[in-house]
Amino acid sequence: MTRRQEIVRQLTAHTTGSPKPEAQAFAPANVALCKYWGKRDADLNLPVSSSLSISLGSLGTTTGLRLRQGADHIMADRLELSPDDRFCRRLSAFLDLFRPDADTGFVVETRNSVPTAAGLASSASGYAALVLALNDLFQWQLGREQLSILARLGSGSAARSVYNGFVVWHCGASDSGMDSVAERITGEWPELRVGVVIVAGSEKPIGSREAMARTVASSPFFDRWKAVAEADMHQLREAIGNHDLELLGTTAESNAMAMHALMLASRPPVLYWTGATIDVLQRAWALREDGVPVYCTIDAGPNVKLLFLDEAEARVREAFEEATIVQPFGE
Ligand code: PMV
Repeated sequence: MTRRQEIVRQLTAHTTGSPKPEAQAFAPANVALCKYWGKRDADLNLPVSSSLSISLGSLGTTTGLRLRQGADHIMADRLELSPDDRFCRRLSAFLDLFRPDADTGFVVETRNSVPTAAGLASSASGYAALVLALNDLFQWQLGREQLSILARLGSGSAARSVYNGFVVWHCGASDSGMDSVAERITGEWPELRVGVVIVAGSEKPIGSREAMARTVASSPFFDRWKAVAEADMHQLREAIGNHDLELLGTTAESNAMAMHALMLASRPPVLYWTGATIDVLQRAWALREDGVPVYCTIDAGPNVKLLFLDEAEARVREAFEEATIVQPFGE
């Protein structure tokens, strides 16, 4: 039995009864304010440091699930995907962990509430929605922390997408990863807004899995990252507690820059930005110079996410007509 299978067995062994005919679940996308970058265990997606994110309310993935005889059947945004598709192969390999027997397949229908090209329909909401749907289909009745462990096996950042609001994913210390769980932290902040600025719809030059491994192996600054992340986690919690946008924004922005700096110094370098990414950053910084409190964060791609409050929304909309603006705490 592999370590991944052993974890699934441990978490689901209590289940009696037969699966439901079908199940469906939704999970939100999330934007990390303190990034997960670097694994201490690539097989179990165990991070070297804790991370903190904000979930994006109604933006995310809805996944429907049922069992069938034979191979998996996967539809994404109403399009049937070929089993040879990279996305399908990764999904089916993950579903192998949960297959009742080798002859049983899953019918998976996933729908993203934003176009995939918007860069929000990441693997995070996808694997989280899938695990929530599996929990319903097999009637495991697992708690969210346990579900975050299963979602993590699909994609690290998915651990955080099993919750709404502000979420901390604790890096944990055990080899089994049973303490590497995500938890929602208290703190509603109805005035907070996230603007997503799309600058490119093309495929990433390199996936986050490979980019992380390269950073850990070759970035000369990687040994500093754990301390940076720890300090940023502290500041973000304080900012959330006090509704301090300046502290939240400056910390999230600097954390994102530090992550990208690690990548740039890797060999060979990893650069997710395009010229348009820099243009958005400079426009946001000019707006800030002009007295509008708006801050930036960037994940493993060229798109920029803006952090600001409702009172700045009109100015941000005017400056970034192309932005999708999200209210993480209710619409
Ligand atoms: O979950 P993955 O393997 O796609 O990694 C995501 C990493 C970042 O989005 C760049 C940061 C994060 O914490 O979400």
